[in-house]
Amino acid sequence: MEVVIVADAAAGGQLIADAVAELITRKPDALFGVATGSTPLPVYEALAAKVAAGELDTSHLKVCQLDEYVGLPADHPESYHAVLKREVLEPLRVPDTNFLGPDGNAEDLPAACAAYEQQLTAAGGVDLQLLGIGTDGHIGFNEPISSLASRTRIKTLTERTRIDNARFFNGLPEVPHHVITQGIGTILQARHLVLLATGHAKAEAVAATIEGPVSSLIPASALQLHPHATVVIDEPAAQQLKLADYYRATYASKPTWQGI
Ligand code: GLP
Repeated sequence: MEVVIVADAAAGGQLIADAVAELITRKPDALFGVATGSTPLPVYEALAAKVAAGELDTSHLKVCQLDEYVGLPADHPESYHAVLKREVLEPLRVPDTNFLGPDGNAEDLPAACAAYEQQLTAAGGVDLQLLGIGTDGHIGFNEPISSLASRTRIKTLTERTRIDNARFFNGLPEVPHHVITQGIGTILQARHLVLLATGHAKAEAVAATIEGPVSSLIPASALQLHPHATVVIDEPAAQQLKLADYYRATYASKPTWQGI
């Protein structure tokens, strides 16, 4: 695992956007796995700036969704499909036909989960998966004690996650209880995992992810099992790390051609 401590969220966004741009330049039809939440927004903004400046051709890029609420009407502004259309597809000028996501309104949800796994495989697998982290250490919507081998399936949100996400809705009662999420086993199949975490509210989960034991209690700790995982954090999110100086020194002496 590589840990990169950046000055602020904008610097983290720029660093990751540069890595995504490098991927797209090398592989124009790459499959880019995107996350929702507030944290990844600086990444999408930095990528959108490259597209607007004509520096990046995203016309062949494929984008796929990490997770989705169950039962929100398709046109609900907070369905993750709607959020990603607004925050990623439109600003990055990625055609709708290049977007993959699970159907949170399917009559047969387990079949929709299995179909999504097949879609990801048929698309060649995820090249770079961007991740945020929940305050309880979840990735996607894999809540604590999710199997580290899990595949795309239905999950029940913890109360803590529902409270964290209530800011996007008109109050807690509106936040769905059930979701579809790529499993941890699914996420671990991506070729490169990049987790971005910013702010002191994430410091405890970040320390457990990087320096704690691999445990389903902290789903993000599964990144320790991945051969190419990068965790990008700002100073407040790095506050509880024991080896922060080591991570800083290592990154400072890394040749820039290596990227992340
Ligand atoms: C939701 C999403 C996660 C995201 C998390 C943190 O639960 N399913 O993918 O990482 O929120 O969101 P934020 O970045 O807003 O703190």
